[in-house]
Amino acid sequence: MKAWGSLDLVAALIQETARDAVLPRFRQLRSDEIEQKLAPDGKNDLVTVVDRDVEDRLTRALTALVPAMVIGEETSHGSPELLDLIHTDAPLWIVDPIDGTRNFAKGSDAFGIMVAWVVAGQAEAAWVLLPARQQMFMAQLGAGAFMNGRPVRVPPREAGTRLSGNAHTRYLAPPLSDRIARAVGDHFTVVPDLGCSAVEYTDVLQGRQDFTTYYRLLPWDHAAPALILTEAGGVVEHLDGQLYTARSPNQVTVVAGNREVSATVRSHLR
Ligand code: 2AM
Ligand code: CA
Repeated sequence: MKAWGSLDLVAALIQETARDAVLPRFRQLRSDEIEQKLAPDGKNDLVTVVDRDVEDRLTRALTALVPAMVIGEETSHGSPELLDLIHTDAPLWIVDPIDGTRNFAKGSDAFGIMVAWVVAGQAEAAWVLLPARQQMFMAQLGAGAFMNGRPVRVPPREAGTRLSGNAHTRYLAPPLSDRIARAVGDHFTVVPDLGCSAVEYTDVLQGRQDFTTYYRLLPWDHAAPALILTEAGGVVEHLDGQLYTARSPNQVTVVAGNREVSATVRSHLR
């Protein structure tokens, strides 16, 4: 058994949490169960009773399985210093209780639950559950990725077709945001921004889009899906070609199905 338990044990905890605390509230939330919250960068964000309940449940279940510090999105909102733990070498559970809260709150199925086990900035194991789509992705460093229990790889692309993807510029200021958006629009087929990194990374994994790009790199949004995608043959790297880690500071970052796609996208964004 690994330090963090086993892929299946943690997957079962997350599935159970989705069954007990998420799916019964999906499309059943009252308006007073959805609140505005101010993100650290001053942007408006949402939180629901379900985000908080799921974070509490997962924090208790994961630390009962393997004691470690937890960086959870909602706890970090009240205690931003928790994020500094990413720079210590202690093992960490990183939890996004609901990724794509806006979608969840409006009844769209594009939301996920994400958990990563991270040591010294390196994700060693990761889980992404899309509860309403009944898809569980997980990966162990060096041991490949799995979708609903079966090994999964990014499918080969059809040669000669135009690359499809998008750019998340919401957390970027002009003129860089305009330059990135224009470069993506000029060179690629632009697909909708789903506002949910759990779905976007796993869409790249399944070949539904070739790439996406981010700027804000909160570890609960990226550590888990980045390990799963890279274990499936994909790439997550910054514009200079440095690989993403859970300690990467905010910067333009390309998430792609393979090295060639990433190199092409980076060449147009630099
Ligand atoms: P969240 O729902 O867990 O906050 C990266 O794009 C992440 O930013 C998403 O996975 C989502 O995470 C958050 N996000 C995306 N669009 C957003 C929006 N319009 N408002 C607030 N948060 C958003
Ligand atoms: Ca969230």
